[in-house]
Amino acid sequence: MDDFDLLQEATQEAEAAEDSRALYEVKMKFLGRTGKVTALLKGMKEIAQESRPAFGKKVNALREALEEKFASLEEKIKQRELEKKLAGENIDVTMPGRHTKQGALHPVTRVKDRLIDLFSGMGFEVFEGPEIESEYYNFTALNTPADHPARDMQDTFYLTEEFLLRTQTSAGQIRVMEQKKPPIKILSPGRVFRSDDDATHSPMFHQMEGLVVDKHITLCDLQGMLDEFAKKMFSETSKTRLRPSYFPFTEPSVEVDVSCAACGGKGCSLCKGTGWIEVLGAGMVNRRVLENCGVDPDEYSGFAFGMGIERIAMLKYGINNIKLLTENDTRFLEQFKD
Ligand code: DAH
Repeated sequence: MDDFDLLQEATQEAEAAEDSRALYEVKMKFLGRTGKVTALLKGMKEIAQESRPAFGKKVNALREALEEKFASLEEKIKQRELEKKLAGENIDVTMPGRHTKQGALHPVTRVKDRLIDLFSGMGFEVFEGPEIESEYYNFTALNTPADHPARDMQDTFYLTEEFLLRTQTSAGQIRVMEQKKPPIKILSPGRVFRSDDDATHSPMFHQMEGLVVDKHITLCDLQGMLDEFAKKMFSETSKTRLRPSYFPFTEPSVEVDVSCAACGGKGCSLCKGTGWIEVLGAGMVNRRVLENCGVDPDEYSGFAFGMGIERIAMLKYGINNIKLLTENDTRFLEQFKD
């Protein structure tokens, strides 16, 4: 074969190669170990002795020409491939980003944290009692003996004759007073359970209990603290009012209303036209409860209060059904990101 034909053939094929891989294959076809040009050199022995130097020179020149050709094509192809790669990696800064969903705290958690924050600022410490309680802590020590009619106020889930799911965080009051001598200033958040189920009652809900015991504690201290609580929790203009009530563990007992934040006290559908909303129960700790815990009621006095966290959340955020707080529908929950 004429070496000029080979040069042309290799050049044509090399120029037609679309990428570096194809070019490499063409190169091997001619210059590789079993390539056509290499075959020419191998076939030298069959050529007459005197023609060999000239033939060798020609083939070498051909090989060099081809090597040069391949090198320059390789360079071009590499450059083209690089440009293509860079073009493919071009970032479109106008493209909308991928959204990641951001979580939010549950409204009950928000209110609980807010309450802890608020009362910690007044010097309260957090104490968490157990959810499974004995009858003694949940009722008896709180001045509610077995035959006491107040036990019917709360429908209780009994686990055994002695143990139950606590119906109120008030049980924690006893545990704290047993462990600690006055002055006492504790806040006790937690789950409570009652056999109760409608739009404003759920079999499980959360309460926040407060207890203050020291010398010379009066109902005025309670009211002053509640005013502060209402202002910080609802609005700067919120007021409180105490109504006489009954709880076995407090004497006197009160129910505490806060002026309706929705209408400013004028009367609206939320407060049923009264201008007031009931938010918690409270009172002066009953002497018998102090005695039950070994605290001398002639030396010390105290006040206690207990509120439903769901109830506060419903009032604060205008939620009309307590079930929304346990369904955990993210469309509902993601609205609370204040
Ligand atoms: N434990 C009461 C309840 O669940 C609420 C309560 C009322 C708590 C008066 C108190 C209190 O500490 O003094 O209905």
